[in-house]
Amino acid sequence: MPLAMSEEQERISARPDAEKPRSPTETSGRADLIIVTTALLVVFAIALGLGIGFRTYHQPSLSASGNNGGSQSLNDDWRLDTSTAYSISSNWNSSAPKTTREYNFTISNVVGWPDGFNRTLTVINGQFPGPMIEANMGDRIVINVVNEGDIPTTLHWHGLYQNGTNFMDGVANINQCPIPPGKSMIYNFTVQDQYGTYWYHSHYKTQYMDGVIGPLIIHSEEEDLLIGDLYDYDQVILLTDWYHGMSDSYIDAYLTPGNENTEPVPDNGLINGANYFNCSLTPYDTCYQDEANRAMFNVQQNKTYRFRVINTGAFAEIDFSVDDHVLTLIEGDGTLIKPTEIHKLQVSVAQRYSVLLHTNISTAAESTEIFYVRAELDQFCFATDNPLLDPGVKGYLVYNNSQREDESQKISEFINNPSNSWNDVAANVRCKDLNNTAIEPLISETPPNATHFYRLDSAFLIKAYQRDRAYINGTTWYSPDVSILYQALQMFQLATDFELDNNNVTTLMTTSGVLPLGVFSGDQNQYIINVNKENSVIDILINNLDDGSHPFHLHGYKFWVLGSGLGNFDYKQYGSVVSNATNPMKRDTLQVVSYGWALIRFVADNPGLWPFHCHITWHLEAGLFMQFQILPEKIAQFDPPVDWTELCAA
Ligand code: C2O
Repeated sequence: MPLAMSEEQERISARPDAEKPRSPTETSGRADLIIVTTALLVVFAIALGLGIGFRTYHQPSLSASGNNGGSQSLNDDWRLDTSTAYSISSNWNSSAPKTTREYNFTISNVVGWPDGFNRTLTVINGQFPGPMIEANMGDRIVINVVNEGDIPTTLHWHGLYQNGTNFMDGVANINQCPIPPGKSMIYNFTVQDQYGTYWYHSHYKTQYMDGVIGPLIIHSEEEDLLIGDLYDYDQVILLTDWYHGMSDSYIDAYLTPGNENTEPVPDNGLINGANYFNCSLTPYDTCYQDEANRAMFNVQQNKTYRFRVINTGAFAEIDFSVDDHVLTLIEGDGTLIKPTEIHKLQVSVAQRYSVLLHTNISTAAESTEIFYVRAELDQFCFATDNPLLDPGVKGYLVYNNSQREDESQKISEFINNPSNSWNDVAANVRCKDLNNTAIEPLISETPPNATHFYRLDSAFLIKAYQRDRAYINGTTWYSPDVSILYQALQMFQLATDFELDNNNVTTLMTTSGVLPLGVFSGDQNQYIINVNKENSVIDILINNLDDGSHPFHLHGYKFWVLGSGLGNFDYKQYGSVVSNATNPMKRDTLQVVSYGWALIRFVADNPGLWPFHCHITWHLEAGLFMQFQILPEKIAQFDPPVDWTELCAA
C-alpha cells in the first residue's frame, strides 16, 4: 500500500518554522528533538555493544500536532537502517555448505524524503534503499518478486553471469516480459565462478532511479583466503545522483524534438540513501530542512574497514573520498586488484570498488575526530546547470574515541570547522574512469587471442522527426513489445540450421556472425551480433563519437580492458595494444570517454541474449543499447519456468 501523507502532515511539515501555536510536546523545537533522539540512538548503540555503527544521522520521527489537537507522527519507516542492513557480519561463513538463499521482494510506491525533499519512491519491501542480498559462491538465490507498484517491473542482477539462466537476467523485453502490476515472478539462479561486490536494480525503463536498487554481495572461501585478513569490518556504501521527480517525468522533455542530448541534471546526490538539501532553494513546501539527513559512519580507531562503494546512480560519475584518509583499492566489479593507494576514487555509473580505510589518524581528538566522506558528483559531464544542485555530497566519518553523547554538538562544531578534501587530484573534466591500466587483477590472467573483431560506433544523431537519438552502428534501440528471448525460443523450435544468413553486422576484420534467418528481421530497432561458434573470443572496439562519456556495461560477462584512448583508434596499433595487455583489468562496466575509444575482449562461452549498453538511463532511453546473441544452439535448449513464460503469453 502506498503510504501517503495526510494533508495535515503535509501542511505542518510544509512550514516547520511557521509561527503557529505549538502544543506542549512541540515546544522543545526540532533541534532539541534531534539531540534527544540522537542521544537515545547513541545510548542504544552503545547498549548493543556495536563495534561498528553505521547509520544515517537523522531524526527517526517528527511529532506534529494538528488543529484537531490530535497528534500524528511523520513516520520514516520507509528509510532502511543501512547501519545494520549494509554491514557485513564478520561471522559470515564463506565455507558453509551450498544452500538456497530466499528473499521476498514486494515492489510498491511510498512517500519519502531521502534528502529532506518529499517525493514518491518506488521501493522494495517498503524501504529505501533496497535490502542487501548475500550469498556464497555456489549458492542458489531465489527471489520472489511481487509487483504492487503501478507500472511493470523486472529485476536485473548486475554483473552476475547467469550461465545457463539467461532468462533470469531481468532485462525488460529482452530476457523476459516485464512483471505487470499485481503479478509476480520467481527469480531462481545459482552463482558460479564469481564473487565480490555486485548490485541489483530494476531493468524496466528508468525505474531503478526511483529506488528499486540494492547491493548484492557474493562471498567465497577463495576471497577470504586472499584478502580476508586485510580488514576488520566490511560495509556497503551506495552512491547515487538523485532527482526530485519521478524518473519517467523527465523522459518526454529529454527526448523531445530539438533537444540535442541535454540530459536532465540531478538535484542532489545520496550516500546510503541520505543527504542534506537546502530546502529554501525550492518553491515546494514539502521539504524537511534538516542538516542531519546525512549518512554517518561510526568507526573505531586503529581498525581497517572495507568499504564496498557502488555507484547505483543514473547519470553522474562520482568521486569518492574520505578527508585525510588514504584509500587502498582492492576490488573492482568483482575482480580483486593488487592493492593500490588512492586519494580519490572515480566511480562511473554501475561500477563497484572495494577500498580499505585505516582509521589511523592518531591526533583524532575532540575537534578533529569527524571527517567528511565525500561523494562529489562530476559536473563536467552535465550539459547544463541545475541551480538546485550542490555537487559536494557529503556524509560523516566519526571516530568513536571520546564521549559519544556529545555527538550532535561535535557535528555542529565540525560543520563550522570542517575537514579538508583531498586537493591534489586534478579535476576529472572528461568524467574518466580511474585509470584501468594502472590497476592489475590480483589473480593474473593472460587473455586468449581473439577470433573475432567488431567495431561499434556509438553516436547521437538527429534523424527522423528532428529527434536526437543514440545509435550503435546505425541502429537506435527501441524496446520491443515482446521479449526477444521469448521470440527467439519460439523461432528456435522451428529452426534446423543455425548457420543461415548474415545481416547488418559491421565487421572490420573477420566474422562468422550469423543471425538465424527471419527471427528479428522484422524489428529494425534491434542490433544483434550473433556468435554461433564455440570458443569464440570477441574483441570489441567501441568508438565514442559523442561529446558525452558512456559507462558501457556488458551483461553475462566480465571483459578485459585491453586499451583506451582519445580520438580515432589507429588500426595499425591493434597488434601492439593487444600484446601490451598483460594481466589487464577485467570488469563488467567501463567508461568510454567522449570522442574516445576502448578495446575490450571477452570469451563468448555463456549462451544467451546479452545486452551491451550505456548504463546512463537517459542514454538507454535514447537507444544506446544492443545485444550479443551467443551460441544460439544452446539458447534453443533453454527451458524457462512456467511463470516466466506466462508473463509473455498473458
Ligand atoms: Cu546494471 Cu543492463 O544493467
